[in-house]
Amino acid sequence: MRSTAAVFSLLTAAAAVRAGPTASVPVRARAVEIEPITAKGNAFFKGNERFYVRGIDYQPGGASANIDPLADPKVCMPDIEKFKKLGVNVIRVYSTDNSMDHDECMNALAEANIYVVLDANNPKYSIKREDPHGSYNTVYLQSVFATIDSFAKYSNTMAFISGNEVINDQTNTTLAAPYVKATDRDMRAYIKARNYRKILVGYSAADVSSNRQQTANYFNCGPDEERSDFFAFNDYSWCSSDFITAGWDVKVRNFTGYGIPIFLTEYGCNTNKRNFGELQSLMHPNMTGVYSGGLMYEYSMEPNKYGIVEIKGGQDNGGIDQTGERIELDEFAAFASALKKWPAPSGDGGYTSTSKAAPCPTQDQNWLVSSTKLPAIPEGAKKFFESGAGKGPGLNGPGSETATDQASTSDDSTTSGSSSTSVSSTSGSGMSSTSTSASTPTKSTNAAVRARVSAVDTAPFVVSGLVLFFTLVGAAAL
Ligand SMILES: *[C@@H]1O[C@H](CO)[C@@H](O)[C@H](O)[C@H]1NC(C)=O
Ligand SMILES: *[C@@H]1O[C@H](CO)[C@@H](O)[C@H](O)[C@H]1NC(C)=O
Ligand SMILES: *[C@@H]1O[C@H](CO)[C@@H](O)[C@H](O)[C@H]1NC(C)=O
Repeated sequence: MRSTAAVFSLLTAAAAVRAGPTASVPVRARAVEIEPITAKGNAFFKGNERFYVRGIDYQPGGASANIDPLADPKVCMPDIEKFKKLGVNVIRVYSTDNSMDHDECMNALAEANIYVVLDANNPKYSIKREDPHGSYNTVYLQSVFATIDSFAKYSNTMAFISGNEVINDQTNTTLAAPYVKATDRDMRAYIKARNYRKILVGYSAADVSSNRQQTANYFNCGPDEERSDFFAFNDYSWCSSDFITAGWDVKVRNFTGYGIPIFLTEYGCNTNKRNFGELQSLMHPNMTGVYSGGLMYEYSMEPNKYGIVEIKGGQDNGGIDQTGERIELDEFAAFASALKKWPAPSGDGGYTSTSKAAPCPTQDQNWLVSSTKLPAIPEGAKKFFESGAGKGPGLNGPGSETATDQASTSDDSTTSGSSSTSVSSTSGSGMSSTSTSASTPTKSTNAAVRARVSAVDTAPFVVSGLVLFFTLVGAAAL
């Protein structure tokens, strides 16, 4: 509470300064302060009240447009009116520009009592599943930390997502897990070091049956500073069916006792005409003891056909101009009425008040990570804890892909396997994954990344040879 109050008075002071009589710049609204969301046991709270995510995913223009809708009031303002009309309390935004100002959109959202879940990655600055070691570098972390700097001051920043579907249905993508978890750890450490309010950090997983449980356990195992604040996944298994047919009963059973909050970062299969009955179960005692709601995918109509609002001209202009007229499609009313029909339950929903760690997954044919030890933070990134991240590179900077300041391989005890993934990609090959799971639409940050990676198979012995080669070269370079 104390740090919140401090941030508030700083913002108020800043607003006061800007509002001075000599100011010829437009006077800005004061920071709008709402009760921040916290985690306790396996649930979220707003003050003393249990908080359920009853939200929507917001990515106008789709993944390929890669625009920041919170940096342009001409985009966010008409949408905030729609969010209010729907009655959502959280939006997820997939890419934000850490070189831009977000005061107007964030304050308008706060005024509407809407919280924001933000992906800290974007296509140019992310952990690449085909090169996790190489992409976990100082340039990457500077961008991630700059995003935290941009949004930590807003009381309605609910959470940061440390990675989206980096691990998918290709077994070898599990080798990226240590680097995503290291990023997750570093983000929490950064928030603490910079004396920000305790903003939640967690991973958003693909719904892949062969590694869902391992991924969940992995992000919640080990020392406290390495455990995520929550776990989330994208789930398209409910296609206008019901709790049992969708298999959600099993997913509740399997996650019972997991130890930290869980929610769905995407739901909303569009195979049948959608009635969003998912909400009935998400708000029902069948689920509230284990889950804390979810985000419906998605707000704007894009080529993958999940939207409930058409942004005139938004789809067919290369995704650049998202300021066109907003037209409510049929499912807009369906989603609004589902939210009305199935409100958040009162009471504590049967949550578990104590948090606990999960057992680390053991290596097997579905989970290739052999060690629970995480890579150390790249040396060059340590200074940010003291000095802050500085100016963010935005969405169109040079990118972190080719940056060379990586975690040293000697600190990196996460298996030779993870290094081999890195090296094979450096040599020009990579994974050719076009889907994460059959039911997941391609739209994530990594979907954009995926599309760029060429399909070249590399024989394992060639990879090991390269690892040896690069290890020697690396050693010689030192
Ligand atoms: C639930 O757990 C069982 C036993 O570990 C496993 O076989 C099954 O695949 C899991 N199902 C889901 C949907 O997670
Ligand atoms: C709750 O679970 C029961 C089975 O235990 C199922 O019959 C019922 O349809 C479920 N209701 C909802 C709203 O999920
Ligand atoms: C991962 O596995 C896929 C398919 O099994 C393969 O095409 C790809 O080359 C592998 N990637 C790496 C980096 O080993």
